[in-house]
Amino acid sequence: MQRQPDLDLIAGLRADLDDARYTVDGLEAAWGPVAAEALGRDDPEPALAELELRPWSPSGTLGALLVLGAPRSVPEVDRALPRTGARGAARLGLVSIEDGIVHATVDLRPYALADESGVASWWIASDPGEIALGGELPEDHVLGAGAASTTLAQILVPTGTGRVLDLGTGSGVQGLIAARSAGAVVATDLSERALDFAGFNAALNGVALDLRPGSLYDPVAGERFSRIITHPPFVKTPRGAAEVPGYTYRDGGFAGDGLVEAVVRGAAAHLAEGGIAQLLGNWEVHGDPAAARERVLDWAGPLDVWIVERDLLDPAQYAETWVRDGGAQPGTARFRSLVRAWLDDFAARGVTAIGAGYITLRAPRHGRTLRRFEHLDGAVGSGIGSAIEAAIAAHDLQRVLPDEALADTVLEVAPDVTEHRHYWPGDADPTVIELRQGTGFARVRRVDTVAAAVVGACDGELAIGSIVDAVARILDADPADTRTAVLPILRELWFEGFLTLR
Ligand SMILES: C[S@@+](CC[C@H](N)C(=O)[O-])C[C@H]1O[C@@H](n2cnc3c(N)ncnc32)[C@H](O)[C@@H]1O
Repeated sequence: MQRQPDLDLIAGLRADLDDARYTVDGLEAAWGPVAAEALGRDDPEPALAELELRPWSPSGTLGALLVLGAPRSVPEVDRALPRTGARGAARLGLVSIEDGIVHATVDLRPYALADESGVASWWIASDPGEIALGGELPEDHVLGAGAASTTLAQILVPTGTGRVLDLGTGSGVQGLIAARSAGAVVATDLSERALDFAGFNAALNGVALDLRPGSLYDPVAGERFSRIITHPPFVKTPRGAAEVPGYTYRDGGFAGDGLVEAVVRGAAAHLAEGGIAQLLGNWEVHGDPAAARERVLDWAGPLDVWIVERDLLDPAQYAETWVRDGGAQPGTARFRSLVRAWLDDFAARGVTAIGAGYITLRAPRHGRTLRRFEHLDGAVGSGIGSAIEAAIAAHDLQRVLPDEALADTVLEVAPDVTEHRHYWPGDADPTVIELRQGTGFARVRRVDTVAAAVVGACDGELAIGSIVDAVARILDADPADTRTAVLPILRELWFEGFLTLR
C-alpha cells in the first residue's frame, strides 16, 4: 500500500468507484440483505452465491474481489474499473495478478456514517479481514473501519474548526471523519503499515492528513490540540505466553490496561485549554469495582473526566470474544488453549472483570470540577456527541448556580422525553414513574411523584422555584423541604439531558 499514491491513478480510481456505485447501499443491493446479514456473522457464502445468481454489476465484482477476497478475471476487473483497470489497481497495491486472475491484497470497501455533522461516505482500504483470509489475522494487521470505529465516531462532541489529533489512526478513518470540520488533523500510528493505509485512504478520499509515525504522544511532543480522538489498542492480552499472538491494532504490545492509562495520563500535556479528548477504553477490575472506578478516574490527573462504562465483562467472556476476534475457531484445540492462556493471565494478575466504555476528558479552564464514572448499559440513541457536549455545558452552568439561583432558572423538558407510569392492577397511584429519553444515552430515570410533577410543569415558562413551591402546596408539603429534596434531582436531570435550559 502506498502512503503517497500516484494522484492520476487515484483520481481515476475514485471516478471508477463512483461510477460503480461502490457505496454501502450499492453493495447491499449487489448481494441483498440476507447475504449482508450473513456477512455480519463472517459468513461470505450467501453473498458469493447471490453474486452468481444476480445480473453482473461493477459493485458486485468489486465487492467479491475487495471485500470477500474472491479472485476475479482481468477482463471482469477491467470492466468494473474502466479507467484504472486491473493493472492500475495492481500498481496502486490493491491487487496482484497471476495468470490472468486478479487477487485482492487489501480490503477496500465503502464506509458510511450519519452523525450530527451530517451524512458522509468514504472508501477505506485496510488489510484483508478474516473472511478474505479464511484464517487467523497476522500480528501486524491494519484494521478497517469497524463497529468500534463507528461507535467512537458517534460519541464525538462536534469537532469544531481547531486542530485535531487522531492517535493510533490505523486506516485513518477517524482522521477522515474529523477532517470534515477541523482546521487540521494530525494522524499518528506506531505502525508504518497503518500510516501507509491512512495516507492512501486520505488521497483516495481527497482529504489532507498530517501523518506521523511513533508511539503514543511522541510524534506530537510539545503540541496541543482542541480535540484528541483515539480508539486505542485496548485489548488486555497475556504477555509472555508464546502461543498468544500480540496484535499491534488491538493491544499495541502493552500489558494489562497500561496503554489506555498512558493515553489518558498523556492527554493533559496535549489538550489546549477547554480542549476535549475522547476515547474508547477497557479497564481491569481487580476485585473491588469501586476501587477500579477510582483507579481509572485517577488516570485523568488534572483533567475533567467523565467515564461511561457500557459493559462489565467477566474474564471468560472477554477472553473468548478476543480469541475469536483474532480468527481462532471456537471448538478447536487452538481456541481452547488461547482462552486458557488468557484466563491464566487474568487469574495470575487478580483480574476479576473488565470494564469497557467511553472516556471523555477536558482540559478545564480553572481547575478540575467534573469527575464522574457511571455504568450505563443497554441500547443508546443517536446524538450522543451532542448529549455529552450539552451535559458538560450544563455542568459548567450549574457550578455557578447556587440553589437560590437555580430556583430562578427556567428549564424545559427535552423534546425526546416521555413519562411512563406503572400501576398495580386496581391502584389509583402509580408504583413506578419513569422518565425515558428517546435520543442520546437513552436513559431511563425513576422519579417520585414530586419530581415527576415538577418535571412535567417545566414548560419553559415558569422558574423552577415557582414550580417546586406550587407542587409543594398541592401536595401539602413544606416548600423549603421540597426544594431541598428536589433541586439535586433536577440538577442531575439537567446534566443527563431530561431538562434543558430555555
Ligand atoms: C484499534 S486500532 C484503531 C484504528 C482506527 N483509529 C479506528 O478507529 O478504526 C488502534 C491503532 O493504534 C495503533 N497503535 C498501537 N500501539 C500504538 C502506540 N503505542 N501508539 C500509537 N498507535 C498505536 C495500531 O497500529 C492501530 O492502528
